[in-house]
Amino acid sequence: MKPFAVLIALALPLYVAPVQASPELAAKSKCMTCHQVDKKMLGPSFKSIAAKYKGDKTAEATLVDSMLKGAKGKWGKIPMPPQKIAPVDAQKLSKWILTL
Ligand code: HEC
Repeated sequence: MKPFAVLIALALPLYVAPVQASPELAAKSKCMTCHQVDKKMLGPSFKSIAAKYKGDKTAEATLVDSMLKGAKGKWGKIPMPPQKIAPVDAQKLSKWILTL
Protein backbone atom coordinates (compact mmCIF):
# COMPACT_ATOMS: atom_id res chain seq x y z
CA MET A 1 0.00 0.00 0.00
CA LYS A 2 2.95 2.32 -0.42
CA PRO A 3 1.47 4.46 -3.23
CA PHE A 4 -1.57 5.03 -1.05
CA ALA A 5 0.58 6.30 1.81
CA VAL A 6 2.35 8.66 -0.54
CA LEU A 7 -0.97 10.00 -1.72
CA ILE A 8 -2.04 10.73 1.83
CA ALA A 9 1.25 12.44 2.56
CA LEU A 10 0.77 14.63 -0.49
CA ALA A 11 -2.84 15.43 0.31
CA LEU A 12 -2.31 16.32 3.97
CA PRO A 13 -0.91 19.83 3.44
CA LEU A 14 -4.03 20.62 1.42
CA TYR A 15 -6.11 20.09 4.53
CA VAL A 16 -3.78 21.99 6.81
CA ALA A 17 -3.26 24.95 4.49
CA PRO A 18 -6.61 26.81 4.78
CA VAL A 19 -5.93 27.79 8.41
CA GLN A 20 -2.96 29.89 7.34
CA ALA A 21 -4.38 30.70 3.92
CA SER A 22 -4.85 34.43 4.36
CA PRO A 23 -1.47 35.43 5.80
CA GLU A 24 0.12 33.31 3.09
CA LEU A 25 -2.15 34.79 0.47
CA ALA A 26 -1.19 38.27 1.63
CA ALA A 27 2.48 37.40 1.34
CA LYS A 28 2.01 35.73 -2.01
CA SER A 29 -0.02 38.68 -3.32
CA LYS A 30 2.84 41.05 -2.41
CA CYS A 31 0.68 42.96 0.08
CA MET A 32 3.46 42.69 2.63
CA THR A 33 5.82 44.91 0.62
CA CYS A 34 3.66 47.85 1.75
CA HIS A 35 1.68 46.45 4.69
CA GLN A 36 2.34 44.64 7.94
CA VAL A 37 -0.14 43.17 10.34
CA ASP A 38 0.65 45.45 13.27
CA LYS A 39 3.05 48.09 12.01
CA LYS A 40 2.54 51.00 9.65
CA MET A 41 4.74 50.84 6.58
CA LEU A 42 3.95 52.50 3.26
CA GLY A 43 0.36 51.48 3.90
CA PRO A 44 -1.58 51.29 7.18
CA SER A 45 -1.21 48.18 9.35
CA PHE A 46 -3.89 45.56 8.79
CA LYS A 47 -4.82 45.84 12.47
CA SER A 48 -5.50 49.56 12.20
CA ILE A 49 -7.61 48.90 9.11
CA ALA A 50 -9.63 46.34 11.10
CA ALA A 51 -10.02 48.90 13.93
CA LYS A 52 -11.13 51.69 11.61
CA TYR A 53 -13.87 49.59 10.01
CA LYS A 54 -15.01 47.88 13.21
CA GLY A 55 -18.80 47.66 13.25
CA ASP A 56 -19.09 48.80 9.63
CA LYS A 57 -21.29 46.27 7.87
CA THR A 58 -20.15 47.29 4.41
CA ALA A 59 -16.45 47.13 5.35
CA GLU A 60 -15.76 43.83 3.63
CA ALA A 61 -17.01 45.14 0.28
CA THR A 62 -15.25 48.49 0.78
CA LEU A 63 -11.90 46.80 1.33
CA VAL A 64 -12.37 44.46 -1.63
CA ASP A 65 -13.12 47.51 -3.73
CA SER A 66 -10.01 49.32 -2.47
CA MET A 67 -7.79 46.34 -3.26
CA LEU A 68 -9.12 45.82 -6.77
CA LYS A 69 -9.48 49.47 -7.78
CA GLY A 70 -6.86 51.05 -5.54
CA ALA A 71 -7.38 53.56 -2.74
CA LYS A 72 -6.24 57.07 -2.11
CA GLY A 73 -6.75 59.77 0.46
CA LYS A 74 -8.30 57.46 3.03
CA TRP A 75 -5.21 57.01 5.15
CA GLY A 76 -2.74 59.58 3.98
CA LYS A 77 -1.02 61.03 0.97
CA ILE A 78 0.32 57.75 -0.45
CA PRO A 79 -2.19 55.96 -2.69
CA MET A 80 -2.51 52.19 -3.07
CA PRO A 81 -2.38 51.12 -6.70
CA PRO A 82 -5.02 48.61 -7.87
CA GLN A 83 -3.86 45.11 -6.85
CA LYS A 84 -3.60 42.41 -9.47
CA ILE A 85 -5.41 39.70 -7.53
CA ALA A 86 -8.50 37.62 -8.18
CA PRO A 87 -11.75 38.99 -6.71
CA VAL A 88 -12.15 35.79 -4.63
CA ASP A 89 -8.71 36.35 -3.16
CA ALA A 90 -9.56 39.97 -2.40
CA GLN A 91 -12.63 38.74 -0.56
CA LYS A 92 -10.59 36.27 1.49
CA LEU A 93 -8.03 38.92 2.34
CA SER A 94 -10.72 41.41 3.27
CA LYS A 95 -12.41 38.90 5.60
CA TRP A 96 -9.08 38.05 7.19
CA ILE A 97 -8.00 41.68 7.71
CA LEU A 98 -11.29 42.45 9.44
CA THR A 99 -10.72 39.64 11.96
CA LEU A 100 -7.40 41.08 13.15
C1 HEC B 1 2.51 49.76 -3.30
C2 HEC B 1 2.17 49.59 -1.92
C3 HEC B 1 0.95 48.76 -1.54
C4 HEC B 1 0.68 47.45 -1.89
C5 HEC B 1 1.52 46.50 -2.74
C6 HEC B 1 -0.56 47.11 -1.24
N1 HEC B 1 -1.04 48.19 -0.54
FE1 HEC B 1 -2.80 48.26 0.50
N2 HEC B 1 -2.49 50.26 0.86
C7 HEC B 1 -1.38 50.97 0.49
C8 HEC B 1 -1.56 52.36 0.86
C9 HEC B 1 -0.53 53.47 0.66
C10 HEC B 1 -2.85 52.45 1.45
C11 HEC B 1 -3.58 53.71 1.94
C12 HEC B 1 -4.42 54.28 0.81
C13 HEC B 1 -5.26 55.47 1.20
O1 HEC B 1 -4.81 56.33 1.93
O2 HEC B 1 -6.43 55.51 0.73
C14 HEC B 1 -3.42 51.11 1.43
C15 HEC B 1 -4.66 50.77 1.93
C16 HEC B 1 -5.14 49.48 2.03
C17 HEC B 1 -6.42 49.11 2.62
C18 HEC B 1 -7.45 50.07 3.24
C19 HEC B 1 -8.39 50.54 2.14
C20 HEC B 1 -9.54 51.34 2.66
O3 HEC B 1 -10.54 51.38 1.93
O4 HEC B 1 -9.49 51.93 3.74
C21 HEC B 1 -6.52 47.75 2.52
C22 HEC B 1 -7.64 46.88 3.00
C23 HEC B 1 -5.34 47.28 1.85
N3 HEC B 1 -4.52 48.34 1.56
C24 HEC B 1 -5.07 45.96 1.56
C25 HEC B 1 -4.05 45.52 0.73
C26 HEC B 1 -3.90 44.17 0.26
C27 HEC B 1 -4.78 43.00 0.69
C28 HEC B 1 -2.82 44.13 -0.56
C29 HEC B 1 -2.29 42.94 -1.36
C30 HEC B 1 -3.21 42.35 -2.31
C31 HEC B 1 -2.27 45.49 -0.59
N4 HEC B 1 -3.05 46.29 0.20
C32 HEC B 1 -1.16 45.86 -1.30
C33 HEC B 1 -0.25 50.47 -0.15
C34 HEC B 1 -0.15 49.21 -0.70
